[in-house]
Amino acid sequence: MNKYIIQGGHPLSGVVTVSGAKNAAVAILPAALLINGTCRIENVPDISDVRLLLEILDSMGAKIRRLSPNTLELCCTNVRDSEASDALVRRIRASYYFIGAQLGRFGHARVALPGGCNFGARPIDQHIKGFEAIGAAVDLKDGFVCAAAPADGLTGGRVNLDVVSVGATMNIMIGAVLANGTTVIENAAKEPHIVDLANFLSAMGAKISGAGTDVIKIRGVRSLHGGSYSIIPDQIEAGTFMAAAAACGGSVLVKNVIPRHLECITAKLREMSVEVTEFDDAVLVRREGRLTKTNIKTLPYPGFPTDMQPQMTTALCLAEGTSIITEGIWGSRYRYTEELSRMGANIHVDGAIAVVEGVKELNGAPVRAHDLRAGAAMVIAGLAAKGVTEVEQVQNIERGYETLVEKFVALGADMY
Ligand code: UD1
Repeated sequence: MNKYIIQGGHPLSGVVTVSGAKNAAVAILPAALLINGTCRIENVPDISDVRLLLEILDSMGAKIRRLSPNTLELCCTNVRDSEASDALVRRIRASYYFIGAQLGRFGHARVALPGGCNFGARPIDQHIKGFEAIGAAVDLKDGFVCAAAPADGLTGGRVNLDVVSVGATMNIMIGAVLANGTTVIENAAKEPHIVDLANFLSAMGAKISGAGTDVIKIRGVRSLHGGSYSIIPDQIEAGTFMAAAAACGGSVLVKNVIPRHLECITAKLREMSVEVTEFDDAVLVRREGRLTKTNIKTLPYPGFPTDMQPQMTTALCLAEGTSIITEGIWGSRYRYTEELSRMGANIHVDGAIAVVEGVKELNGAPVRAHDLRAGAAMVIAGLAAKGVTEVEQVQNIERGYETLVEKFVALGADMY
C-alpha cells in the first residue's frame, strides 16, 4: 500500500531501537567499490535507498550476501569497469558517491546527475571542485557527470570548500583515498556520518585524519583491504522518535543511539518543556504538560540538523506561544507546511523563515509525504492529531526509515 492510515491522539510509550544511519550507509556502500577483498558491514538499515544502491552494485558485478536483515557481506574485487545504470542512479541522490568511487577505482567515472529528495536546487559544484583539485578533469554533458584521472592516476591536492557540504566532503574523501598523493579538505563538513565513512575507510586500510573537524587530511594508499565494520545509529531516525514523543506526549526510550549526536535536538526539546534523560546508548523522552515555544535555526553539524526541521516544526505547531524557525541549509524546505495548515496548524512561511503560532490541537486530514523528512513530519502530525490522517506517497518515507510503522505500533500508535 502506498499510504499510511493513522488514528491519532494516543500518547506513545515503550521502547524503540534505532537502525543504522542512512546517510552513512549510502556513502559506505558505493565506497566499498574501492576495496580489494570482502567486507562485512553490520547495522545496515534495510531501507529502499540502500536496496537501490545494492541493486546498482549488483548490476556492476559486486557479490552481495545478506547474512541477516542488517548485516551484509560485500565483495567488489571483480566488479567490472562499467557504468551504474542511469535509470537506477537517477532515483537516488546519494548515487553521486559513485562519481568518487568509480574515479578512485577505475580512474574515470560517468554517472547520471542524481535525483533524490525534492526540496529545491541541489548543486554539486563543490564535489566537482574537489575532484578537480585532486587531479581529475570533470565535464557535465547531457545530464551526466564525467570525470577522468590523468594517465598516471589522481594526484591528491588541497581543496577549500566554498560551502560546508556533507556530500562534497564525503565524495572527495572517497575519490582521494587511492590517489598517489595527499589531499586536504578545508571547510569540511563535520556530521557524524562523515566520521563514520572515515572510520569505515580507515578500517579497510585508508589513511584519514581530522574527520569530524573542518580540516580532513587523506594520505593516498595503494589499495584497501577487506574487513568488518558496524555503521553508527541514525541520528535523524532517533530525533524523529524524540520529536514524535514530544508531539504526542508519553514516555519513549529511544535505544541504540549516540546521545552526543543528539545534543542539539535534546537541548531544543528541553527548551520545549520535554524531559530528556541521557543514558550511555539511549535517551528517555517524556512529555506530560503542554509543549512550549522555542526558536530553531538549522545549521551544519554541530548545529541543529536541517533533516530534523520538519519533525520539530510539526511538534511546535502544538506548543504554547510563537516559535520561529530559520532554515539555514535548504531555504525552500517548507512545502510540507501547507499540509500541516490543512490539519489546523497556524504557520506563516516567508522565504527561509517559518513563524508557528501554536494551536491546542491538530485535526486528521489526507496529506502527502512530499519528501523523506517531510513524510516523517506528516506521520508525527497524524499521530498527534485528533481523528484519522491518511499519509500518501509513503515510498518517500520508506527511502530512509526502516519498519517505521511497526516501530510506532510497538509504541502504542494506531496506524497501518
Ligand atoms: C546531505 C544529506 C541530506 C541533508 C544535507 C544537509 C545525504 C545523502 N543527504 O545532503 O539529508 O539534508 O546533507 O545536512 O547525506 N551545496 C552547494 N554546492 C554543492 C553541494 C552543496 O552549493 O556542491 C549547498 C546546498 O545547496 C546546501 C548546502 O550546500 O545549501 C548543504 O548541502 P550538502 O551538505 O551538500 O547536502 P547533501 O550532501 O546533498
